[in-house]
Amino acid sequence: MQKPPACPLSHLHIYSLYPFLSIIIMAFSFSFTALALLISSLAAAFLLLFRRTRYLRMGLPPGSLGFPLIGETLQLIKAYKTEDPEPFIDERVTRYGSVFTTHLFGEPTVFSADAETNRFVLQNEGKLFECAYPASISNLMGKHSLIRMEGSLHKRMHSFTMSFANASAMKDHLMVDIDRLVRFNLGSWSSRVLLMEESKKMTFDVAVKQLTSFDPGEWSENLRKEYHLVIEGFFSLSHPLFSTTYRKAIKARRKVAEALTAVIMERREEEKEGAERKTDMLAALIAADDGFSDEEIVDFFVAILVDAYETTPTIMTLAVKFLTETPLALAQLKEEHEKIRAMKSDSESLEWSDYKSMTFTQCVVNETLRVANVIGGVFRRAMTDVEINGYKIPKGWKVFLSFRGVHLDPNNFNDARTFNPWRWQSNSVTTSPSKVFTPFGGGPRICPGYELARVAISVFLHHLVTSFSWVHEEKDKMVFFPTTRTQKRYPITVKRRGGGLSST
Ligand code: HEM
Ligand SMILES: *[C@@H]1O[C@H](CO)[C@@H](O)[C@H](O)[C@H]1NC(C)=O
Ligand SMILES: *[C@@H]1O[C@H](CO)[C@@H](O)[C@H](O)[C@H]1NC(C)=O
Repeated sequence: MQKPPACPLSHLHIYSLYPFLSIIIMAFSFSFTALALLISSLAAAFLLLFRRTRYLRMGLPPGSLGFPLIGETLQLIKAYKTEDPEPFIDERVTRYGSVFTTHLFGEPTVFSADAETNRFVLQNEGKLFECAYPASISNLMGKHSLIRMEGSLHKRMHSFTMSFANASAMKDHLMVDIDRLVRFNLGSWSSRVLLMEESKKMTFDVAVKQLTSFDPGEWSENLRKEYHLVIEGFFSLSHPLFSTTYRKAIKARRKVAEALTAVIMERREEEKEGAERKTDMLAALIAADDGFSDEEIVDFFVAILVDAYETTPTIMTLAVKFLTETPLALAQLKEEHEKIRAMKSDSESLEWSDYKSMTFTQCVVNETLRVANVIGGVFRRAMTDVEINGYKIPKGWKVFLSFRGVHLDPNNFNDARTFNPWRWQSNSVTTSPSKVFTPFGGGPRICPGYELARVAISVFLHHLVTSFSWVHEEKDKMVFFPTTRTQKRYPITVKRRGGGLSST
């Protein structure tokens, strides 16, 4: 016979109580998590409040630091992935004023959408503030790129770069080179082109010519493909351990370095054998008194190619986009360029004086730079405690100088969010533009390629409007993160003017 359970009640007890018990346990653990959540969110809120009051006591501009660690980074990225990222800055400027404290890309940051503050910080480069690029970018650029140089070396190399892109260089030979390379590219256009791709090719060819005197060909096209991978690495915002894009970029950079090193060695050899010295940057770097190493020259070139490869082609493409959407401006631009072309034979190159006569074109270029903001702003780091406009920026803090915020501020430009090239003709620019218009930065680190970029864009527009008409039919959204671009690279269908569709 089976032994009865020692205690039937206990038996019952367990079974009958089980659901109840689990409810109690659940309830208990529930309230425990709730409690834990409550405590941790109270702690977080307290911490935020504490951080906030501590920062306010430090005399920092007002603002919000968002969540711990990620701060307001996600809000920024989300906004910049849409066609209208302006509310991100607008909301904060309305709440806190044009200089505010935020937390971006892992660090508390003072964000300035104020022209006066931006100018002060740019002018005090190397004294109160220094360049502060994320490590992923400066590693790809290389040790000897301009953005990582400081002090007197930076000063010398900055003016060196400038002298290869200034007005005299342009008059001397660059103008003719740019004219030829732009025509060469447009000559290959058939019915449908991706404008962003084509303008990247043109810009790259111009940069390679300026650096090494090489004309476009298989060599430069292969280099450009590797280069493209390096550029993608820049915007992967990631760590080599986690990002294949970044790893590919590092590999591609090594290949670019090898290709350039071969060119440098060959040139050194030629010069030893007494070949005539060329007028390019490579010749000047080799001839420099302090004798730059191959590695230094490579880094220097890589950085210049990076600067030229993203910015100028984006402005070329967006100028066409804005003109397409503003037929009156396009008509006026055409008229200006047809007048210039009418005085020349078809094959005659543009000259410096032609460039100088393109007054409306300069309005279009400025307005495109203002509205597009390819470089939306720059990061700096305070080298010491700095006081600006009654606020204090503590030593070691990051500052983001937003050019975008200033360029799209209705206090600086009437109807600031509209593309209106005519504003540059009249006095409709509220304040003097030189004070509020800084698409190329300012101070000791002002873009040394600013004149070259303007010329390249103008020459491109000249040949585009005098040789082609075009239509843009596909819907193509603009986004601003990780870089300013249209998602489909702005496809257009072109037609050679005065003839049928060309397929040369
Ligand atoms: C529309 C075209 C361009 C725009 C909007 C642009 C904009 C800028 C800006 C805003 C800076 C300042 C960065 C800072 O202060 O941290 C800069 C720096 C620089 N740019 Fe450009 N750029 C353009 C085209 C070019 C071209 C064609 C070159 C080629 C020569 C170039 C070469 C450089 C270099 C080497 C620097 C670093 C200067 C330094 O750190 O001292 N840029 N650019
Ligand atoms: C341009 O650079 C050259 C050096 O190559 C210099 O002699 C000249 O004065 C500069 N020109 C201008 C207009 O800055
Ligand atoms: C375009 O902007 C520059 C400043 O970058 C300024 O010097 C120039 O006068 C402007 N051009 C026109 C046509 O207003």
